[in-house]
Amino acid sequence: MSATVTSPRYLTDDWHDTEQTFEVVSPATGAALGSAADCGETEAKAAVDIAWSAFEHWREVSAFERSATLRRWHGLIMANQDELGRLMAREMGKPIREGRGEAAYAAGFVEWYADEAKRVYGTWFPSHLPGKRLLAIKQPVGPAFAITPWNFPAAMLTRKAAPALAAGCPMIVKPAKQTPFTALRLAELWLEAGGPPGTLQVLTSFKPASVTGVMMADPRIRKLSFTGSTEVGKMLYRQAADTVKRLSLELGGHAPYLVFDDADLDRAVAQVVACKFRNAGQTCVCTNRVYVQDGIFEAFVERFAAAVEALEVGDPLDDGTDIGPLVDGAGLAKVMEHVDEAVAKGATVVTGGRASGGLFYPPTVLTDVTNDMAIMHEETFGPVAPLVRFGTEAEAIEQANDTPYGLAAYLYTRDLARAIRVSEALEYGLVGVNDGVPAAPYAPFGGVKESGIGREGGPWGIEEYLEVKYVSFKLD
Ligand code: SIN
Repeated sequence: MSATVTSPRYLTDDWHDTEQTFEVVSPATGAALGSAADCGETEAKAAVDIAWSAFEHWREVSAFERSATLRRWHGLIMANQDELGRLMAREMGKPIREGRGEAAYAAGFVEWYADEAKRVYGTWFPSHLPGKRLLAIKQPVGPAFAITPWNFPAAMLTRKAAPALAAGCPMIVKPAKQTPFTALRLAELWLEAGGPPGTLQVLTSFKPASVTGVMMADPRIRKLSFTGSTEVGKMLYRQAADTVKRLSLELGGHAPYLVFDDADLDRAVAQVVACKFRNAGQTCVCTNRVYVQDGIFEAFVERFAAAVEALEVGDPLDDGTDIGPLVDGAGLAKVMEHVDEAVAKGATVVTGGRASGGLFYPPTVLTDVTNDMAIMHEETFGPVAPLVRFGTEAEAIEQANDTPYGLAAYLYTRDLARAIRVSEALEYGLVGVNDGVPAAPYAPFGGVKESGIGREGGPWGIEEYLEVKYVSFKLD
Protein backbone atom coordinates (compact mmCIF):
# COMPACT_ATOMS: atom_id res chain seq x y z
CA MET A 1 0.00 0.00 0.00
CA SER A 2 1.20 3.50 -0.75
CA ALA A 3 2.86 4.98 2.36
CA THR A 4 1.34 8.40 1.64
CA VAL A 5 -2.04 6.85 1.87
CA THR A 6 -1.77 4.72 5.01
CA SER A 7 -0.06 7.40 7.06
CA PRO A 8 -2.64 9.67 8.72
CA ARG A 9 -2.92 12.40 6.11
CA TYR A 10 -5.77 14.13 4.41
CA LEU A 11 -5.83 16.11 1.19
CA THR A 12 -7.03 19.64 0.55
CA ASP A 13 -4.82 21.72 -1.78
CA ASP A 14 -1.92 19.80 -0.21
CA TRP A 15 -1.37 16.85 2.10
CA HIS A 16 -1.81 17.59 5.81
CA ASP A 17 -1.36 15.70 9.08
CA THR A 18 -3.76 15.82 12.03
CA GLU A 19 -3.15 15.16 15.68
CA GLN A 20 -6.38 13.20 15.89
CA THR A 21 -6.29 9.90 14.09
CA PHE A 22 -8.20 6.65 13.98
CA GLU A 23 -7.15 3.12 13.24
CA VAL A 24 -8.28 1.17 10.20
CA VAL A 25 -8.42 -2.60 10.59
CA SER A 26 -8.81 -5.49 8.19
CA PRO A 27 -12.20 -7.15 8.66
CA ALA A 28 -10.67 -10.44 7.54
CA THR A 29 -7.93 -10.61 10.16
CA GLY A 30 -8.56 -7.78 12.63
CA ALA A 31 -4.99 -6.60 11.94
CA ALA A 32 -4.31 -2.84 11.93
CA LEU A 33 -3.74 -1.53 8.39
CA GLY A 34 -2.73 2.00 9.33
CA SER A 35 -4.12 5.21 10.80
CA ALA A 36 -6.27 7.79 9.10
CA ALA A 37 -6.63 11.50 9.82
CA ASP A 38 -9.68 12.30 11.90
CA CYS A 39 -10.83 15.54 10.30
CA GLY A 40 -13.39 17.76 11.96
CA GLU A 41 -14.89 21.23 11.72
CA THR A 42 -11.60 23.15 11.32
CA GLU A 43 -10.43 21.01 8.41
CA ALA A 44 -13.88 21.11 6.82
CA LYS A 45 -14.06 24.93 6.94
CA ALA A 46 -10.62 25.22 5.34
CA ALA A 47 -11.66 22.73 2.65
CA VAL A 48 -14.71 24.82 1.68
CA ASP A 49 -12.53 27.96 1.28
CA ILE A 50 -10.12 25.96 -0.90
CA ALA A 51 -12.93 24.46 -3.00
CA TRP A 52 -14.40 27.90 -3.56
CA SER A 53 -11.14 29.36 -4.83
CA ALA A 54 -10.43 26.22 -6.91
CA PHE A 55 -13.85 26.72 -8.52
CA GLU A 56 -12.86 30.18 -9.81
CA HIS A 57 -10.06 28.54 -11.75
CA TRP A 58 -11.45 25.09 -12.66
CA ARG A 59 -14.66 26.41 -14.20
CA GLU A 60 -12.54 28.49 -16.63
CA VAL A 61 -10.34 25.56 -17.68
CA SER A 62 -11.50 24.42 -21.11
CA ALA A 63 -13.66 21.32 -21.32
CA PHE A 64 -10.97 19.77 -23.53
CA GLU A 65 -8.31 20.23 -20.87
CA ARG A 66 -10.58 18.91 -18.12
CA SER A 67 -11.28 15.94 -20.36
CA ALA A 68 -7.57 15.28 -20.93
CA THR A 69 -6.91 15.35 -17.17
CA LEU A 70 -9.72 12.87 -16.56
CA ARG A 71 -8.34 10.64 -19.30
CA ARG A 72 -4.92 10.60 -17.63
CA TRP A 73 -6.63 9.79 -14.31
CA HIS A 74 -8.39 6.88 -15.99
CA GLY A 75 -5.04 5.59 -17.29
CA LEU A 76 -3.46 5.81 -13.84
CA ILE A 77 -6.36 4.03 -12.13
CA MET A 78 -6.09 1.19 -14.66
CA ALA A 79 -2.30 1.09 -14.25
CA ASN A 80 -2.89 0.65 -10.50
CA GLN A 81 -5.85 -1.70 -10.82
CA ASP A 82 -4.24 -4.53 -8.90
CA GLU A 83 -3.04 -2.28 -6.07
CA LEU A 84 -6.50 -0.70 -5.72
CA GLY A 85 -8.11 -4.13 -5.73
CA ARG A 86 -5.80 -5.24 -2.93
CA LEU A 87 -6.45 -2.08 -0.95
CA MET A 88 -10.21 -2.74 -1.07
CA ALA A 89 -9.67 -6.40 -0.14
CA ARG A 90 -7.70 -5.27 2.90
CA GLU A 91 -9.90 -2.36 3.96
CA MET A 92 -13.33 -3.86 3.58
CA GLY A 93 -12.86 -7.52 2.77
CA LYS A 94 -13.97 -7.44 -0.87
CA PRO A 95 -12.64 -10.54 -2.67
CA ILE A 96 -9.64 -9.50 -4.72
CA ARG A 97 -11.20 -10.51 -8.08
CA GLU A 98 -14.14 -8.23 -7.32
CA GLY A 99 -11.72 -5.56 -6.09
CA ARG A 100 -9.89 -5.53 -9.42
CA GLY A 101 -13.26 -5.49 -11.17
CA GLU A 102 -14.31 -2.53 -9.06
CA ALA A 103 -11.12 -0.62 -9.91
CA ALA A 104 -11.96 -1.08 -13.63
CA TYR A 105 -15.59 -0.08 -12.95
CA ALA A 106 -14.34 3.04 -11.12
CA ALA A 107 -12.04 3.87 -14.04
CA GLY A 108 -15.01 3.38 -16.39
CA PHE A 109 -16.81 6.36 -14.83
CA VAL A 110 -13.70 8.50 -15.29
CA GLU A 111 -13.37 7.47 -18.93
CA TRP A 112 -17.05 8.10 -19.62
CA TYR A 113 -16.98 11.59 -18.09
CA ALA A 114 -13.71 12.45 -19.83
CA ASP A 115 -15.81 12.24 -22.98
CA GLU A 116 -18.95 13.84 -21.51
CA ALA A 117 -16.95 16.92 -20.46
CA LYS A 118 -16.82 17.84 -24.17
CA ARG A 119 -20.55 17.34 -24.72
CA VAL A 120 -22.02 19.94 -22.39
CA TYR A 121 -24.01 21.65 -25.10
CA GLY A 122 -26.24 24.72 -25.00
CA THR A 123 -29.32 25.27 -27.16
CA TRP A 124 -30.64 28.16 -29.23
CA PHE A 125 -34.42 28.06 -29.24
CA PRO A 126 -37.15 30.12 -30.94
CA SER A 127 -39.06 33.06 -29.46
CA HIS A 128 -42.66 34.02 -30.26
CA LEU A 129 -41.49 37.64 -30.59
CA PRO A 130 -39.53 39.01 -33.56
CA GLY A 131 -36.16 40.56 -32.82
CA LYS A 132 -35.32 38.18 -29.98
CA ARG A 133 -32.79 35.35 -29.79
CA LEU A 134 -32.95 32.88 -26.96
CA LEU A 135 -30.20 30.71 -25.58
CA ALA A 136 -29.98 28.08 -22.84
CA ILE A 137 -26.47 27.28 -21.59
CA LYS A 138 -25.21 24.86 -18.98
CA GLN A 139 -22.82 25.92 -16.25
CA PRO A 140 -21.22 24.06 -13.33
CA VAL A 141 -23.33 24.21 -10.13
CA GLY A 142 -20.27 24.96 -8.01
CA PRO A 143 -18.32 23.17 -5.28
CA ALA A 144 -19.80 19.79 -4.46
CA PHE A 145 -19.61 17.56 -1.41
CA ALA A 146 -19.74 13.76 -1.65
CA ILE A 147 -20.24 11.23 1.10
CA THR A 148 -19.11 7.86 -0.20
CA PRO A 149 -19.84 4.39 1.22
CA TRP A 150 -17.50 1.57 2.26
CA ASN A 151 -19.06 -1.10 0.04
CA PHE A 152 -17.72 0.42 -3.21
CA PRO A 153 -14.86 2.61 -1.97
CA ALA A 154 -13.49 3.32 -5.46
CA ALA A 155 -16.46 3.23 -7.83
CA MET A 156 -18.80 5.37 -5.73
CA LEU A 157 -16.08 8.01 -5.46
CA THR A 158 -15.48 8.20 -9.19
CA ARG A 159 -19.21 7.89 -9.99
CA LYS A 160 -19.57 11.22 -8.15
CA ALA A 161 -16.22 12.96 -8.64
CA ALA A 162 -15.75 12.25 -12.37
CA PRO A 163 -18.97 14.00 -13.53
CA ALA A 164 -18.39 16.84 -11.05
CA LEU A 165 -14.85 17.45 -12.28
CA ALA A 166 -15.91 17.06 -15.92
CA ALA A 167 -18.60 19.72 -15.41
CA GLY A 168 -16.14 22.14 -13.78
CA CYS A 169 -17.09 21.57 -10.12
CA PRO A 170 -14.43 20.96 -7.47
CA MET A 171 -15.37 18.17 -5.12
CA ILE A 172 -14.76 17.47 -1.44
CA VAL A 173 -15.14 13.80 -0.54
CA LYS A 174 -15.75 12.33 2.88
CA PRO A 175 -15.18 8.60 2.51
CA ALA A 176 -16.58 6.02 4.93
CA LYS A 177 -14.45 5.52 8.04
CA GLN A 178 -13.90 1.85 7.13
CA THR A 179 -12.31 2.70 3.75
CA PRO A 180 -10.31 5.94 3.85
CA PHE A 181 -7.24 4.63 2.04
CA THR A 182 -8.84 3.80 -1.31
CA ALA A 183 -10.23 7.34 -1.47
CA LEU A 184 -6.86 8.88 -0.62
CA ARG A 185 -5.09 6.74 -3.21
CA LEU A 186 -7.57 7.80 -5.92
CA ALA A 187 -7.03 11.44 -4.99
CA GLU A 188 -3.27 10.92 -5.10
CA LEU A 189 -3.66 9.55 -8.64
CA TRP A 190 -5.80 12.56 -9.58
CA LEU A 191 -2.93 14.87 -8.58
CA GLU A 192 -0.49 12.67 -10.49
CA ALA A 193 -2.75 13.01 -13.54
CA GLY A 194 -2.35 16.79 -13.34
CA GLY A 195 -5.57 17.52 -11.45
CA PRO A 196 -5.09 21.01 -9.98
CA PRO A 197 -4.67 21.15 -6.18
CA GLY A 198 -7.97 21.82 -4.43
CA THR A 199 -10.18 20.40 -7.19
CA LEU A 200 -10.48 17.01 -5.45
CA GLN A 201 -10.14 17.04 -1.67
CA VAL A 202 -10.47 14.05 0.66
CA LEU A 203 -11.33 14.55 4.33
CA THR A 204 -11.24 11.28 6.22
CA SER A 205 -13.11 11.30 9.51
CA PHE A 206 -14.21 9.05 12.32
CA LYS A 207 -16.93 11.48 13.44
CA PRO A 208 -18.46 12.42 10.10
CA ALA A 209 -21.16 14.69 11.55
CA SER A 210 -18.60 17.42 12.28
CA VAL A 211 -17.39 17.52 8.65
CA THR A 212 -20.86 17.07 7.19
CA GLY A 213 -22.34 19.77 9.45
CA VAL A 214 -19.95 22.38 8.03
CA MET A 215 -20.63 21.33 4.44
CA MET A 216 -24.40 21.34 4.85
CA ALA A 217 -24.45 24.78 6.50
CA ASP A 218 -22.13 26.55 4.05
CA PRO A 219 -23.98 28.12 1.09
CA ARG A 220 -20.84 27.86 -1.05
CA ILE A 221 -21.31 24.07 -1.17
CA ARG A 222 -23.91 23.95 -3.92
CA LYS A 223 -24.42 20.24 -4.28
CA LEU A 224 -24.48 17.12 -2.13
CA SER A 225 -24.12 13.62 -3.47
CA PHE A 226 -24.67 10.88 -0.91
CA THR A 227 -24.67 7.09 -1.12
CA GLY A 228 -25.75 5.37 2.08
CA SER A 229 -28.73 4.50 4.21
CA THR A 230 -32.22 5.90 3.76
CA GLU A 231 -32.18 7.04 7.40
CA VAL A 232 -29.07 9.22 6.96
CA GLY A 233 -30.26 10.32 3.51
CA LYS A 234 -33.47 11.72 5.00
CA MET A 235 -31.49 13.65 7.60
CA LEU A 236 -29.24 15.15 4.91
CA TYR A 237 -32.29 16.00 2.79
CA ARG A 238 -33.65 18.04 5.70
CA GLN A 239 -30.27 19.69 6.34
CA ALA A 240 -29.89 20.62 2.67
CA ALA A 241 -33.11 22.66 2.82
CA ASP A 242 -31.55 25.59 4.69
CA THR A 243 -29.17 26.44 1.86
CA VAL A 244 -31.32 24.84 -0.88
CA LYS A 245 -28.57 22.59 -2.19
CA ARG A 246 -28.87 20.38 -5.24
CA LEU A 247 -29.07 16.78 -4.08
CA SER A 248 -28.35 13.30 -5.35
CA LEU A 249 -29.31 10.64 -2.84
CA GLU A 250 -28.61 6.98 -3.57
CA LEU A 251 -30.18 5.27 -0.59
CA GLY A 252 -31.19 1.84 0.63
CA GLY A 253 -32.96 -0.85 -1.32
CA HIS A 254 -34.81 -4.10 -0.85
CA ALA A 255 -34.54 -5.66 -4.27
CA PRO A 256 -36.98 -8.39 -5.31
CA TYR A 257 -35.98 -11.05 -7.87
CA LEU A 258 -38.93 -12.69 -9.66
CA VAL A 259 -38.16 -16.04 -11.28
CA PHE A 260 -41.00 -17.24 -13.54
CA ASP A 261 -41.93 -20.82 -14.43
CA ASP A 262 -40.61 -20.45 -17.98
CA ALA A 263 -37.07 -19.51 -16.88
CA ASP A 264 -34.02 -21.45 -18.00
CA LEU A 265 -33.22 -22.81 -14.53
CA ASP A 266 -29.43 -22.97 -14.73
CA ARG A 267 -29.14 -19.49 -16.18
CA ALA A 268 -31.60 -18.08 -13.67
CA VAL A 269 -29.69 -19.69 -10.78
CA ALA A 270 -26.39 -18.25 -12.05
CA GLN A 271 -27.87 -14.73 -12.32
CA VAL A 272 -29.53 -14.82 -8.89
CA VAL A 273 -26.28 -16.06 -7.30
CA ALA A 274 -24.29 -13.27 -9.02
CA CYS A 275 -26.86 -10.69 -7.94
CA LYS A 276 -27.18 -11.87 -4.33
CA PHE A 277 -23.65 -12.81 -3.33
CA ARG A 278 -21.58 -10.06 -4.97
CA ASN A 279 -19.53 -8.35 -2.26
CA ALA A 280 -20.94 -10.86 0.27
CA GLY A 281 -24.40 -9.38 -0.29
CA GLN A 282 -23.21 -5.91 0.72
CA THR A 283 -24.47 -3.86 -2.22
CA CYS A 284 -27.56 -1.66 -2.36
CA VAL A 285 -28.70 -3.53 -5.46
CA CYS A 286 -28.19 -7.11 -4.26
CA THR A 287 -31.48 -8.96 -4.26
CA ASN A 288 -32.99 -9.24 -0.78
CA ARG A 289 -35.92 -11.53 -1.56
CA VAL A 290 -36.23 -14.07 -4.34
CA TYR A 291 -39.75 -14.96 -5.48
CA VAL A 292 -39.91 -18.22 -7.41
CA GLN A 293 -43.05 -19.40 -9.23
CA ASP A 294 -44.83 -22.55 -7.99
CA GLY A 295 -44.03 -24.83 -10.94
CA ILE A 296 -40.23 -24.60 -10.54
CA PHE A 297 -39.90 -23.81 -6.84
CA GLU A 298 -38.51 -27.17 -5.62
CA ALA A 299 -36.13 -27.59 -8.57
CA PHE A 300 -34.90 -24.00 -8.18
CA VAL A 301 -34.25 -24.41 -4.44
CA GLU A 302 -32.21 -27.54 -5.07
CA ARG A 303 -30.03 -26.09 -7.84
CA PHE A 304 -29.67 -22.73 -6.12
CA ALA A 305 -28.55 -24.34 -2.85
CA ALA A 306 -25.98 -26.45 -4.74
CA ALA A 307 -24.59 -23.35 -6.48
CA VAL A 308 -24.46 -21.44 -3.18
CA GLU A 309 -22.66 -24.30 -1.43
CA ALA A 310 -19.99 -24.21 -4.16
CA LEU A 311 -19.07 -20.60 -3.29
CA GLU A 312 -15.67 -20.30 -1.61
CA VAL A 313 -15.63 -18.35 1.64
CA GLY A 314 -12.21 -17.16 2.71
CA ASP A 315 -9.34 -14.72 2.62
CA PRO A 316 -10.31 -11.78 0.40
CA LEU A 317 -6.72 -11.55 -0.84
CA ASP A 318 -6.95 -15.06 -2.26
CA ASP A 319 -7.88 -15.23 -5.96
CA GLY A 320 -10.12 -18.24 -5.38
CA THR A 321 -12.35 -16.50 -2.82
CA ASP A 322 -15.96 -15.71 -3.71
CA ILE A 323 -17.15 -14.44 -0.31
CA GLY A 324 -15.08 -12.43 2.15
CA PRO A 325 -15.98 -11.26 5.66
CA LEU A 326 -18.72 -8.80 6.57
CA VAL A 327 -17.34 -5.31 6.91
CA ASP A 328 -17.60 -5.02 10.71
CA GLY A 329 -19.24 -6.32 13.87
CA ALA A 330 -22.42 -4.32 13.32
CA GLY A 331 -22.76 -5.76 9.81
CA LEU A 332 -22.36 -9.31 11.09
CA ALA A 333 -24.77 -8.72 13.99
CA LYS A 334 -27.50 -7.57 11.60
CA VAL A 335 -27.12 -10.65 9.40
CA MET A 336 -27.27 -12.92 12.44
CA GLU A 337 -30.31 -11.11 13.83
CA HIS A 338 -32.19 -11.40 10.54
CA VAL A 339 -31.48 -15.11 10.13
CA ASP A 340 -32.12 -15.97 13.79
CA GLU A 341 -35.38 -14.04 13.86
CA ALA A 342 -36.55 -15.69 10.62
CA VAL A 343 -35.70 -19.15 11.96
CA ALA A 344 -37.48 -18.40 15.26
CA LYS A 345 -40.56 -17.48 13.23
CA GLY A 346 -40.50 -20.68 11.19
CA ALA A 347 -38.01 -20.24 8.33
CA THR A 348 -36.05 -23.32 7.19
CA VAL A 349 -32.28 -23.07 6.69
CA VAL A 350 -31.45 -24.90 3.46
CA THR A 351 -27.74 -24.12 3.72
CA GLY A 352 -25.54 -21.89 5.89
CA GLY A 353 -27.26 -20.10 8.73
CA ARG A 354 -24.52 -19.92 11.37
CA ALA A 355 -21.61 -17.45 11.68
CA SER A 356 -18.38 -19.20 10.88
CA GLY A 357 -15.86 -17.28 13.01
CA GLY A 358 -14.47 -13.74 12.96
CA LEU A 359 -16.61 -11.59 10.69
CA PHE A 360 -17.35 -14.45 8.28
CA TYR A 361 -20.88 -15.62 7.58
CA PRO A 362 -21.51 -18.45 5.12
CA PRO A 363 -23.77 -17.90 2.11
CA THR A 364 -27.20 -18.86 3.36
CA VAL A 365 -30.46 -19.94 1.77
CA LEU A 366 -33.79 -19.79 3.62
CA THR A 367 -37.23 -21.11 2.68
CA ASP A 368 -40.61 -20.97 4.47
CA VAL A 369 -40.09 -17.25 4.79
CA THR A 370 -43.07 -15.02 5.61
CA ASN A 371 -43.73 -11.30 5.37
CA ASP A 372 -43.65 -10.73 9.13
CA MET A 373 -39.90 -11.49 9.19
CA ALA A 374 -37.49 -8.52 9.25
CA ILE A 375 -35.46 -10.04 6.41
CA MET A 376 -38.45 -9.50 4.10
CA HIS A 377 -38.56 -5.74 4.56
CA GLU A 378 -35.23 -4.51 6.01
CA GLU A 379 -31.92 -4.51 4.17
CA THR A 380 -29.84 -7.44 5.49
CA PHE A 381 -26.66 -6.35 3.66
CA GLY A 382 -25.24 -9.83 3.89
CA PRO A 383 -25.03 -13.20 2.11
CA VAL A 384 -28.54 -14.45 2.85
CA ALA A 385 -31.15 -15.34 0.21
CA PRO A 386 -34.76 -15.86 1.34
CA LEU A 387 -36.69 -17.86 -1.30
CA VAL A 388 -40.45 -17.33 -1.45
CA ARG A 389 -43.01 -19.20 -3.55
CA PHE A 390 -45.54 -17.29 -5.67
CA GLY A 391 -48.49 -18.21 -7.89
CA THR A 392 -49.43 -15.56 -10.44
CA GLU A 393 -47.65 -12.71 -12.19
CA ALA A 394 -49.98 -10.16 -10.57
CA GLU A 395 -49.24 -11.56 -7.12
CA ALA A 396 -45.48 -11.37 -7.74
CA ILE A 397 -45.68 -7.74 -8.89
CA GLU A 398 -47.79 -6.79 -5.90
CA GLN A 399 -45.33 -8.35 -3.45
CA ALA A 400 -42.32 -6.89 -5.26
CA ASN A 401 -43.76 -3.37 -5.02
CA ASP A 402 -44.91 -3.71 -1.41
CA THR A 403 -41.99 -1.75 0.09
CA PRO A 404 -41.03 1.89 0.64
CA TYR A 405 -37.83 1.18 -1.34
CA GLY A 406 -37.45 1.41 -5.10
CA LEU A 407 -33.82 0.99 -6.16
CA ALA A 408 -33.37 -2.25 -8.13
CA ALA A 409 -35.59 -5.18 -9.10
CA TYR A 410 -34.96 -8.23 -11.26
CA LEU A 411 -36.88 -10.85 -13.16
CA TYR A 412 -36.10 -13.99 -15.07
CA THR A 413 -38.38 -15.15 -17.90
CA ARG A 414 -38.20 -16.30 -21.53
CA ASP A 415 -41.53 -14.65 -22.36
CA LEU A 416 -40.83 -11.32 -24.07
CA ALA A 417 -44.28 -9.84 -23.46
CA ARG A 418 -44.04 -10.72 -19.77
CA ALA A 419 -40.55 -9.23 -19.55
CA ILE A 420 -41.87 -5.93 -20.89
CA ARG A 421 -45.09 -5.99 -18.85
CA VAL A 422 -43.39 -6.80 -15.56
CA SER A 423 -40.42 -4.45 -16.00
CA GLU A 424 -42.88 -1.61 -16.67
CA ALA A 425 -44.97 -2.50 -13.61
CA LEU A 426 -42.08 -2.66 -11.14
CA GLU A 427 -41.73 0.60 -9.18
CA TYR A 428 -37.95 0.71 -9.25
CA GLY A 429 -35.20 2.91 -10.71
CA LEU A 430 -33.49 -0.02 -12.41
CA VAL A 431 -34.72 -3.40 -13.55
CA GLY A 432 -32.58 -6.34 -14.65
CA VAL A 433 -34.37 -8.64 -17.08
CA ASN A 434 -32.47 -11.95 -17.10
CA ASP A 435 -29.56 -9.81 -15.88
CA GLY A 436 -28.49 -9.96 -12.24
CA VAL A 437 -25.74 -7.34 -12.52
CA PRO A 438 -27.01 -4.49 -14.72
CA ALA A 439 -25.07 -1.44 -13.40
CA ALA A 440 -22.58 0.16 -15.81
CA PRO A 441 -20.76 3.53 -15.95
CA TYR A 442 -22.80 4.60 -19.00
CA ALA A 443 -26.22 3.61 -17.58
CA PRO A 444 -28.50 5.58 -15.23
CA PHE A 445 -28.32 4.40 -11.62
CA GLY A 446 -30.68 5.60 -8.89
CA GLY A 447 -33.89 4.87 -7.08
CA VAL A 448 -37.49 5.96 -6.70
CA LYS A 449 -39.61 6.23 -3.53
CA GLU A 450 -37.39 6.11 -0.41
CA SER A 451 -34.41 4.80 -2.37
CA GLY A 452 -33.37 8.21 -3.53
CA ILE A 453 -33.32 11.19 -5.82
CA GLY A 454 -31.32 11.79 -8.97
CA ARG A 455 -29.33 9.55 -11.27
CA GLU A 456 -25.64 8.77 -11.47
CA GLY A 457 -23.85 7.40 -14.52
CA GLY A 458 -24.10 8.02 -18.25
CA PRO A 459 -25.26 11.34 -19.70
CA TRP A 460 -27.71 11.65 -16.77
CA GLY A 461 -24.92 11.77 -14.18
CA ILE A 462 -23.30 14.98 -15.40
CA GLU A 463 -26.62 16.88 -15.46
CA GLU A 464 -26.63 16.63 -11.65
CA TYR A 465 -23.62 18.99 -11.62
CA LEU A 466 -24.93 21.48 -14.18
CA GLU A 467 -27.33 24.41 -13.93
CA VAL A 468 -29.30 25.62 -16.95
CA LYS A 469 -29.03 29.35 -17.57
CA TYR A 470 -31.43 31.08 -19.94
CA VAL A 471 -30.06 34.10 -21.82
CA SER A 472 -32.48 36.30 -23.77
CA PHE A 473 -31.11 38.69 -26.42
CA LYS A 474 -33.27 41.58 -27.62
CA LEU A 475 -31.74 42.70 -30.85
CA ASP A 476 -32.92 46.31 -31.28
C1 SIN B 1 -24.26 0.17 -4.74
O1 SIN B 1 -24.37 -0.79 -4.02
O2 SIN B 1 -24.72 1.26 -4.40
C2 SIN B 1 -23.55 0.13 -6.06
C3 SIN B 1 -23.76 -1.10 -6.83
C4 SIN B 1 -23.29 -0.99 -8.25
O3 SIN B 1 -22.91 0.07 -8.73
O4 SIN B 1 -23.34 -2.02 -8.91
